[in-house]
Amino acid sequence: MDASALYALRDPLGIPAAPIIFLVLGVLTWALHIAAVHILLGASGLTLTGALNKNPHWRRLADAMIGTAKIALSVAIVLGVAPLLFVQVVYDPFWYTSNVLSAWWVIGFIVFLIIGSLALFIFYGLNHSMKSTAKTRCPGSLIAAIAFFLLVGFIMHVLSLQMLSPEKWMQWYAPNGIVDASGRTLHDYNFWRFGFFISLSVPVIGLWLIAYRRYLMGRDTEDAGYLAFIQSLSMKLIPVGGVISLALMAGWMFTLPANVAGFATGIWPASTAAILLLAVALPFALGKKLDQGFWGFVPFAFGAVALIVVAVMREMLRWTTLFGVHGYNALDYKLHMDWYSTLMFFLTFGVIGGGVLAYLLTVSWKAGQTKGMYTASPLVNRMGTIGISLLGIWILQYFVIGLWVAYGS
Ligand code: HEM
Repeated sequence: MDASALYALRDPLGIPAAPIIFLVLGVLTWALHIAAVHILLGASGLTLTGALNKNPHWRRLADAMIGTAKIALSVAIVLGVAPLLFVQVVYDPFWYTSNVLSAWWVIGFIVFLIIGSLALFIFYGLNHSMKSTAKTRCPGSLIAAIAFFLLVGFIMHVLSLQMLSPEKWMQWYAPNGIVDASGRTLHDYNFWRFGFFISLSVPVIGLWLIAYRRYLMGRDTEDAGYLAFIQSLSMKLIPVGGVISLALMAGWMFTLPANVAGFATGIWPASTAAILLLAVALPFALGKKLDQGFWGFVPFAFGAVALIVVAVMREMLRWTTLFGVHGYNALDYKLHMDWYSTLMFFLTFGVIGGGVLAYLLTVSWKAGQTKGMYTASPLVNRMGTIGISLLGIWILQYFVIGLWVAYGS
């Protein structure tokens, strides 16, 4: 497709900060999004297995993992919005066309996500304590939730893929010259690529379980049998899931379109495979050290870094396709600098996000390490007060500046 046609689809107003900022933030936030998706899917899968099992360790794990899945769902959604904003800023000609071509599914995405979330909460509501009862009520609701989450992810996958083939857009929009404006068709998918991203849930939840076990070890009274069960389960999930993911990634690379086939043998897939292998090997290399200090949390932290590399590879493929093949340079977007919104974004992210997150992490860490009832120290209480005050100031400035811009200037 002629690059000038793609450039003509850009927002004539330009963008409010350097395009590289959006590109980098897009990659980083997508890595966080997919990490939360992995925990959501991994925890839901473990909950389902545990819920259908009579073994008390499995049932206890199911009980813990449904709580994890519930939180991971909100995190995945919130952290999905961030890359959504970034991708539509720097890649608007591609992202919007892809969305319009499958508009029915884009709207359906919200509905399916709501149904999936409701199904998860129904399961949660019906099964308050799986560890103290051998009966699981309505496991079908959890199966439905997982199915809907996969459908939601698949829609995102199709949108991400369709945007990479501008040369096919006309054929999709008007097959054989007859316009199809229904938006009901999902035009493109790659089983290997989607499978790779989804299958990473298995090793990622394994790494998460190592951290969960280390967290529980802080309590003196913890059941040693349960800790051993988590250890053995995680050490199985990590290598098995890792090998499946790498096989699917290889399949993805082999099935790349001919115009970017060379990408498969470049530095990015090799680096990604290498860091994923390291992430799989790390818990085994650490061995007994996992029980000491903060070492039990290191494999998950390293896994998060590996996911950033996965996200960079995914972005490099997009770059190679859109710039290398179609001549579209996302970095030459017209700049219309808006310092206020740029500063605001970083301050919100760093100060408010960082401050509130530090408080929440401190409370959950300390609560987990305390025997009996946890009472927050004055310092921790002050962190909470500061966090809430910052949020209050943020909301205030939002309305004050907004009203001033709208009516005062
Ligand atoms: C909860 C279920 C979800 C699952 C399983 C899921 C899974 C995925 C997967 C596998 C991809 C990569 C697709 C590919 O590149 O082939 C992806 C991309 C993406 N997801 Fe999600 N997702 C979910 C929810 C969401 C939500 C709720 C949002 C937004 C509100 C979102 C926003 C995005 C965006 C914007 C991308 C593409 C970013 C880009 O191309 O740079 N996702 N998701």
